This record gives sequence, C-alpha cells and structure tokens, in this order.
Amino acid sequence: MKLLTALTFLSITIPSFVTANLGGRPHANIPPNPAIPMVTMPADTSPVRNGTVLPPYSTLYYFDQLIDHNKPELGTFQQRYMFTWEYYQKGGPIVLSTPGESNAAGFSGYLTNRTIPGLIAQPNNGATVVLEHRFFGLSNPYQNLSATAFAVHTIDQAIEDLVYFARNVHLPFPAEIENGSQVGPDKNPWILVGGSYSGALTSWTMVRHPGVFHAGYSSSGVVQAINYYWGYFEPIRQNMPRNCSADVERVIDYMDHTFKYGKKKDKDALKAKFGMPNVTHYDDVAGTLRNQLWTWQSLSPLSGGAVFFDFCDALEMKDGVAAGPRGWGLEHALDAWGKYETQYVATLCQDTPQDECLGTYDSTLAYWHDISVDQAYRSWLWFCCNEVGYWQDGAPEGWPSLVTRLVTPQYDYRQCTYWFPEAFSRPTRPKTFITNAKYDGWNVNEERLFFVNAKKDPWREATVSSDYHPRRSTKKQPIHVLDNGYHCSDLISRFNVAPDIKAVQDNAVATFTQWISEFVPGQGANARRALDAVMPPIESRDDTNSTLPPAEVEPPAVDLGTVNSGVPEPHTGGAPKHVGRKGAWDVDPVVVN
Ligand SMILES: *[C@@H]1O[C@H](CO)[C@@H](O)[C@H](O)[C@H]1NC(C)=O
Ligand SMILES: *[C@@H]1O[C@H](CO)[C@@H](O)[C@H](O)[C@H]1NC(C)=O
Ligand SMILES: *[C@@H]1O[C@H](CO)[C@@H](O)[C@H](O)[C@H]1NC(C)=O
Ligand SMILES: *[C@@H]1O[C@H](CO)[C@@H](O)[C@H](O)[C@H]1NC(C)=O
Ligand SMILES: *[C@@H]1O[C@H](CO)[C@@H](O)[C@H](O)[C@H]1NC(C)=O
Ligand SMILES: *[C@@H]1O[C@H](CO)[C@@H](O)[C@H](O)[C@H]1NC(C)=O
Ligand SMILES: *[C@@H]1O[C@H](CO)[C@@H](O)[C@H](O)[C@H]1NC(C)=O
Repeated sequence: MKLLTALTFLSITIPSFVTANLGGRPHANIPPNPAIPMVTMPADTSPVRNGTVLPPYSTLYYFDQLIDHNKPELGTFQQRYMFTWEYYQKGGPIVLSTPGESNAAGFSGYLTNRTIPGLIAQPNNGATVVLEHRFFGLSNPYQNLSATAFAVHTIDQAIEDLVYFARNVHLPFPAEIENGSQVGPDKNPWILVGGSYSGALTSWTMVRHPGVFHAGYSSSGVVQAINYYWGYFEPIRQNMPRNCSADVERVIDYMDHTFKYGKKKDKDALKAKFGMPNVTHYDDVAGTLRNQLWTWQSLSPLSGGAVFFDFCDALEMKDGVAAGPRGWGLEHALDAWGKYETQYVATLCQDTPQDECLGTYDSTLAYWHDISVDQAYRSWLWFCCNEVGYWQDGAPEGWPSLVTRLVTPQYDYRQCTYWFPEAFSRPTRPKTFITNAKYDGWNVNEERLFFVNAKKDPWREATVSSDYHPRRSTKKQPIHVLDNGYHCSDLISRFNVAPDIKAVQDNAVATFTQWISEFVPGQGANARRALDAVMPPIESRDDTNSTLPPAEVEPPAVDLGTVNSGVPEPHTGGAPKHVGRKGAWDVDPVVVN
C-alpha cells in the first residue's frame, strides 16, 4: 500500500504538464479544499460476511431526498450513498458519515475498518453508510450550480438532509438480515461521523436536532465559523522549523513593504525575481506565496519528507549547512525563495498565461461562469461567501505573519462577486455571526459528542481546541488533542503508526461501544437536559492578558489602489472569454490507499 499526497504536483522532479495543474483549483491563489482524506476501496472489492459475498463497497444507492426542507411540496432529488451490512446484526448501530465538500464516489473506505466508521461498526455489529452531501458530486437538487439553484445550498438544508435520511431511508438489507425500513433512529442507535467541514456538520446537526443521532464523532471539526481566518497559518507557524518561519516572515514583510511603498521599478524587479513578471496585480503576486504553506495541510503521520520540508530546505540549506534557529536573513531568503518560486510557478502554470493561472482579477475567465454540476470548489465557495468565511489571509498588524497582509477578506469578497454575481452585487461579509449563533460554534455542549483535534492542524483555530477558545474535555463531550496528528489524521486506521493516534482510536472504539450499549430505543430526546446541568464552564481565553490578537481582530487596512497603481483596471462582468480547462474542478484530496 502506498500513500499519495494531493500535492505531489508541486514536486519539481515530476514530469511536466502541458497546461496548468492546479490540483483541481480554478486558479492558484485559492486555498486547497479542506476535505477529509480520500480512502478508496478498489472497485471490485466486495466484503464477505460469513462466507457470503456482499455487493462491492463502491456500489451506489439512491435516496429520495427533499429538494427543500422548508417546502417539501417541491419534491425530491436523488442523493447518492454507499452502504454495507458486512458487520451488521439486528439492532446494531448505523454509522453514517459524509465526506462533506467532495464527490463521495472515492470515499468507499469510510465503510470499512480502514477508517473510524468501520472501526466503530465492526465490534458493535453496525452497518456503515457514506452519504454524498447535496450539491457535491452527483447529488444535486437542481442540475446546475447557479446562485438560483443554490437557494437550497445552505448548512440548514444539509443538516436536515442528514436527519431526514436517518428517519426515512430504507436501507437495502437482505430481508433475512433486517427489515431495511425499520432501522430509524428510534429503533437503532445512529452514529454520525465527519471530519473538517463534515466534522463541524456533525456537531451542528447534534445541536439542532439533539436525540436523532445517538452519538457523534467530529475530527478536526471546524465548528466555529470565522470570517478573517488568518489563524489558519498559526499552527503552521508554531510547528514548522524556526529558521524557516523566521526567513518566511522576513520575505513577506519585505515584499509587503516594497509593494506598498516601493517605486514601480523595484516592485517589478521583485515580481520578476519570484518568477511572476506577467502577473499584473501585486497582491496576486504576494498571495501566490501562500502555496508553499498550503502544502502543510496534506501532511500526515506517514508523509515523511514532504513538499513542505523541501521548501524549507531550499531556504535554509546553504552549501550543505542548515541555518540556525534565526535563519539566514533577508538577502539569502529572497534569493533562495525567488529561485524556488520561479521554478514552482513555471511547473505549475506551464503554458497557461500567468494572470490566468495566478491572477484573481479577470472576471471574464470561463471558470467563474461555469455552473455545471460536480465542481467541489464552486459549491464550497458558496458556503464560504455566505455562511462560514474561513478566508486564509495575512495576520493582523503587530503579529508575525507567514502570509502577505495585502491579502485580506476584501480580496476574497471581491471574488465572491465574480463567482456569484446574482447573489453578490458588491463585496459582502459572510454571515458568520448568524452561523455561530444558530449552531453554537465552539460553545457546543452535546452529550456523546466526541471531538478529536490536532496541534499541528491548520484548521485547529476553528475547532473546540482553538488557542482562542480551548474547551475542557468532559466524559459526556470528550475532546482529544493530538500531538502527532495533522488535518483529520485520526480518521484513518493506518495513521495509527503514531502512538497517540492509536490511543485515540482505541479510546474511540471503547467509548462508542459503551455509548451504543446505553441506547434505549425511542428515548433519544431526553438526554440533553441532563447534560446542561453537569457541563462545566468553558475555559475562556482572557483577551486582556493573552499574547494572541483578539479573536475578532480587524484585518490590516490596505490601500490596494496604491499597491496596484499603474496596473490596468480589473475586467468585470461580461461574457466568458475562453473555454475553461477540462476537469479543472476535480478535487485532488489526500489519497490513502
Ligand atoms: C456468522 O455465523 C456464525 C455461525 O452461524 C454466527 O454465530 C455469527 O453470528 C455470524 N456472523 C455474522 C456477522 O452474521
Ligand atoms: C479489519 O477487519 C479485518 C477482518 O475483517 C481484520 O483482519 C483487520 O485486522 C481489521 N483491521 C483493523 C485496523 O481493525
Ligand atoms: C439552474 O437551475 C435553476 C433551478 O432549477 C433554474 O431555475 C435555472 O434556470 C437554471 N439555470 C440555468 C442557467 O440553467
Ligand atoms: C418492513 O417494515 C415496513 C415498515 O414498518 C413494513 O411496512 C413492511 O411490511 C416490513 N416488511 C416485512 C417483510 O416485514
Ligand atoms: C511573459 O510574457 C511575455 C510576453 O507575452 C512572454 O514572452 C514571456 O514568456 C512571459 N513570461 C512568463 C514567465 O510567463
Ligand atoms: C533549519 O532548517 C533545516 C533545513 O530545513 C531543518 O532541518 C532544521 O530543523 C532547522 N533548524 C531549526 C532550528 O529551525
Ligand atoms: C492579568 O494579569 C495580571 C498579572 O499577571 C493579573 O494581575 C490580572 O489580574 C490579570 N487580569 C485578568 C483580567 O485576569
């Protein structure tokens, strides 16, 4: 078995591509999809149960889901799912997971003990189900991804999908095993499992509908919607080699200063030094340097010497000697990163014009206008623009930043008006306050909700283990924080090579086994009141005494007019100028075989 990471295309030793390879991203100034690692069972793999061969794990089933839970009269669409009764015995748990913001077809491993759902189901005689999220893959209420269709693309609707599925699905068990119409949450314990966004969805669903799901497992669950999510880069800064972060910060400060105050000649020389002479806007040039940091998200306990560390080696190794903790200093760092970036963007963009590959200002490009289905980025960005933000931008002034401060939420709001002009006639802040008020964010208190987060996960600052809001673990709502894990590492059995991941997985199996044994059919809804009485207070961070900037800090004020002075006005509106690259939207997640 081998491990492939999503970002192998970053390696400069990989053979060249003819057009840009952006790992599925429409352009290379956009964060990678935060989705859970993809675990696929080979297409022909079929479970065997006591000598009987069951349908292959990859078999797709269809559920008639309501298009609009507020208007059931609008009818239904077909929501895809995978299912197996390999481990099932009558009365056993139904372990439901969704990959969230991905086409579900590659996620059949989440039916098996290669992942947490199977690890929980196997000793408890459970069935496993992987349900595709609405507007991802081929589970679409409407056959396009326009703002009109997206009227029913909300977190509320996604929550209701999970609940309606659990209550109404007829699971295709053979009659002698189980009556598939008789396994609702009033009869069998339902367990909801998710990671990253779907980990948040697990928490949000249990908050909105206590008692439907008997228990939940949330891995790296980004429960708190955060608009200006500069904190994404904070766990990276805290955990990467010190010399490397020191030099990265120097280069970023220098570049920001030059682009804000420098002469045009110096600004253009700096663009050229980093291999981006044809990227028009200076904020796009600086934003492109985020790519080196984004590779951190796909690290795992098995990734070893990954691309991220190649980058640090390029900055910190000189004539076979590594810099000390303070790095080599600005001059060497500029030369070294400049060379690295030049090669990186050449490999990344190939023959695609640089403004198309790395720029964000040309709203006439085809990808902004392509509303065909199965484009994970478009569907995910709708959530970002409307409900969750999570914009991965530079740190506030006065705080060290690995990332340019020219990129603020304004940079992202502007692009929302290109993706969804019908919905955003001007740049608009997403309604994160409403999201957190509705679903409790990191103040969640639910019985039998199991959280696992990781110190080195860039999404940690939006979880219940954020530096901002570290929640106390309790028996009823346990919270584990891994030293060795990265984003969603605990979901994958093979990552148990790290001893703390092994320990948390063993603990999860024992805990869920206990919780499943406590299930009383038909009595789900009473648990919550008992919990509220016993939940200890939150350990809240004291802003006045802390070293961190406040949680709702203002982004840096940037005069982009000055930064981009002398640059042509951005294109706006208009009909698409070119035909988009085929398959440009395919998601390229971390794949575990
Ligand atoms: C397999 O068969 C054995 C013997 O008939 C039985 O005890 C056991 O419960 C069966 N297991 C499953 C998963 O059906
Ligand atoms: C998964 O199940 C198989 C048997 O079905 C077993 O051999 C294997 O050890 C299990 N793996 C894990 C990680 O539990
Ligand atoms: C997209 O789907 C919606 C909902 O069915 C429909 O009203 C709209 O006309 C479609 N738009 C296009 C461009 O096909
Ligand atoms: C299965 O359950 C449904 C719903 O309760 C019922 O209508 C149906 O008759 C049952 N099927 C069998 C074979 O018992
Ligand atoms: C920049 O544009 C010029 C003129 O079109 C072209 O000759 C050159 O190859 C481009 N350079 C890069 C790095 O894209
Ligand atoms: C310095 O950089 C090298 C090369 O990337 C790395 O191996 C080493 O751990 C770093 N040392 C410190 C103190 O950051
Ligand atoms: C902040 O820290 C100081 C010194 O450690 C302490 O005296 C003070 O009570 C703290 N303030 C708050 C609000 O906790």
